[in-house]
Amino acid sequence: MTVQKCFDTYCSNIQKQQLLDEGLFDTADAALWKQNLLLRAKEMRSINLENSGILETLQKLLRENLTEATADGIKNAAISSIIDGMADAALQYPLLLSLADFYKAKGDISSYITCIFFAGFVEGEILYRSGAMEDVSTHPDELIVAERSHYAEITDPSVRAYFLMSYHNLAVCSVTKHEDIPKSYEYLCAMEAFWQSPEVQSLDGQNGEFIQYMENTRRLWLQLSFNTSDIGTPACDYFCRYAGELFDRMEQETGGDISRYLIQTYGPYLNSRVLLGHLTYDEAAELFYVKYRDYMDQALRGREEMEFICFGLIPTLNILSDMLDKAGAEIRSRYYAVINRDLAQFAKCGHHETQVDSNINQALAEMCVKSISTVSGRDEKEKLLFNLVIKRQLLTYLHTMMATRIALLIAEQAWQDLPGYFAETGFTDKNEFLSFVEGATRLHDLGKIYITDIVNMQRRRLDTEEFHGIRRHPELGAKIVEKDSDLSMYRDVILGHHRFYDGSGGYPESFDNTKSKLHKIIDIVTIADCMDAATDCYSRNYKAPIVFETLLGEFVAEAGTRYNPDLVRLLKNNPELQERLTAVVNKERLDRMFEVYSAGRKMYI
Ligand SMILES: [Fe+2]
Ligand SMILES: [Fe+2]
Repeated sequence: MTVQKCFDTYCSNIQKQQLLDEGLFDTADAALWKQNLLLRAKEMRSINLENSGILETLQKLLRENLTEATADGIKNAAISSIIDGMADAALQYPLLLSLADFYKAKGDISSYITCIFFAGFVEGEILYRSGAMEDVSTHPDELIVAERSHYAEITDPSVRAYFLMSYHNLAVCSVTKHEDIPKSYEYLCAMEAFWQSPEVQSLDGQNGEFIQYMENTRRLWLQLSFNTSDIGTPACDYFCRYAGELFDRMEQETGGDISRYLIQTYGPYLNSRVLLGHLTYDEAAELFYVKYRDYMDQALRGREEMEFICFGLIPTLNILSDMLDKAGAEIRSRYYAVINRDLAQFAKCGHHETQVDSNINQALAEMCVKSISTVSGRDEKEKLLFNLVIKRQLLTYLHTMMATRIALLIAEQAWQDLPGYFAETGFTDKNEFLSFVEGATRLHDLGKIYITDIVNMQRRRLDTEEFHGIRRHPELGAKIVEKDSDLSMYRDVILGHHRFYDGSGGYPESFDNTKSKLHKIIDIVTIADCMDAATDCYSRNYKAPIVFETLLGEFVAEAGTRYNPDLVRLLKNNPELQERLTAVVNKERLDRMFEVYSAGRKMYI
């Protein structure tokens, strides 16, 4: 196996997964759907195994076999895969770092910078997936900027461009919170100084693309420092002056149609008008909304257009929701109703493997949290959340609904056989109790809407950062519901469903499930969750499924530590309940999953 061969096989496996996934979403026919699910399960298992093996082989090959003859080919393949929108840190990151070392040792600065630049890009992906965006690293860009004395030696202008792009990253990508803005303003000034320096001006001062990079950075900086009036006088003056200048220019250039330049031009412009006292927030929100409508209509018209527009989706929605937060309640709820419909439309688009899709996922998750408070009633809210999960994470949806069936079977039996057992949960009515268990189980994995990329990553074993990301889903889900008066009652179940019964293990450690008054309901959801996950032979490819009897043995073995002993006893001593559960998880699983899928499909369409 050569490095190149490893790389190509891995990439073709990714394409295979895309086809298999599409087969699952497309059909309403029971037989065909089941056949596709079975085929997918089988293929995914071998893809997962093969790709995980490839990554290990690759590590070895990279240590030993990187040579003059092979390095350039691998570099080009890795970079084109990134440019084509495929982001898989586990594959690309080690590759690019080894190549960077190789070129650095050889004194090939141009290739070194290229590899570091793309490694930095992929590193961003790693942090993004693990949910650690606030730790965004400036290291790769600092490394590149540190080589600036070599600028004039580099013959290829597209490599020289990486200097500006790195300054760009430092100035705008390093801003993840409000306090970063003054620092980013310093980077922006450093970039302006670099751009004005004689060696850059003499080589590239007239290069249209380079001029555009500068322009983009300034615009993006405006967008990032948008929501601010306390960033210090020089930065604030720069903001207001440049926002006004840019708007006048764009309006002229586009003949008044600035919808494509909405985020970086119009939003900051309106904000500068508010800062200068010429507009109120209500007026700014109304004005921005009109342009947002045009923008969204374009975005929803077609996939092609969407590819372009989606990169701006998160910031656009952020600016809009920011304005709406400051505007009056009436304007806020009127516009959010429309935005929620737009989001449901977006959720239906595309598959899940490109950068564009990553952006959509993130925008959906963020907006979901913002919009939830604008819908009224528990049912409507649950529906909104579900619409955003079903298409983008079909497997999470199937799991959630299967776990809900299981939880209800157990809860009903427990309510009947263990009188008074649930007194401390505060429920006195059986139907209310069951309805709560149902809602809680349906939302238990809600936090996964933030980590769609990892959840859908079945083509290889997850790496450490991704596992870290997965383990955040209880907290992410809790964050969504806890501020909402209709949903906050589910908080403890969402937070606690991966904790051990006796509090001795599981995650997140910060949550003490033993102190929750919903402890016993958490225990039901934990058991139902494990029961579906452990016996699912169709949609999880990373663990060999087990049958109900084996699982029951595991529950018994860990009763009192990991699982609630009273509930385990209930399962163990009740053959009828066992029969009903075995039907759902083993014997009739495929039919039950199809029922769930069809219901979701109907609700969704
Ligand atoms: Fe979970
Ligand atoms: Fe789960």
